[in-house]
Amino acid sequence: MKLLHLDSSMLGAASVSRQISREIVSRLKHLHPGAVVITRDLASDPALHLSSAHLAAFQGAQTDNSALTADLVKGGAYIQELLEADVLVIGAPMYNLTIPTPLKAWIDRIAVAGKTFRYTETGPEGLLKGKRAFIASARGSVYNPDSPMAALEHQESYLLGLLGFLGVTDVEVVRAEGIAYGPEARGEAVRQAQDAIAKISA
Ligand SMILES: Cc1cc2nc3c(=O)[nH]c(=O)nc-3n(C[C@H](O)[C@H](O)[C@H](O)COP(=O)(O)O)c2cc1C
Repeated sequence: MKLLHLDSSMLGAASVSRQISREIVSRLKHLHPGAVVITRDLASDPALHLSSAHLAAFQGAQTDNSALTADLVKGGAYIQELLEADVLVIGAPMYNLTIPTPLKAWIDRIAVAGKTFRYTETGPEGLLKGKRAFIASARGSVYNPDSPMAALEHQESYLLGLLGFLGVTDVEVVRAEGIAYGPEARGEAVRQAQDAIAKISA
């Protein structure tokens, strides 16, 4: 089994989503002892944002920009790792109501027509079939579906929509929310996430 582990929090050792994603990976390694794990820390080693220079290069333009060349290689590796992965574990904090920009930059590089989805006569079709995904979600506030806050929730809902668009429909969200409501709330949120992790099955 190949597992792709992404983290995107800028809070390093203090990050809740990193703790949750790490514990999910640990649980999956326990369930699948031979699992090979590829890790990408998108906060410490982000891709560049897409630019007109990237688009020109995609269309075959030559470049002598070494930073762009390295970044194009990185984007190619992102796609290869994703195509080869059986399981994705995505550490995804909420920043300003949505995902962190380095995670969006990763998405901008892997959502490629003809590779991870395609256009058909009846609409787009995801090409990442048969994969399983876990979203390690952390957020300061609470976004109950039946509360007014729900309309502001563009983090999990965006990731679920994006993964579904790419054909990944077996997705489990492991969530710790209310992190900003003090140490007790944070501890309880993490404990609930850990309970959910303990229930992950092979
Ligand atoms: C730049 C920034 C923006 C944030 N924006 C939100 C927000 O819009 N809504 C929210 O509920 N929490 C927000 N938070 C709180 C984080 O979601 C919370 O601290 C969470 O634990 C972050 O995940 P992490 O610990 O893995 O970094 C924000 C935190 C930071 C640092």
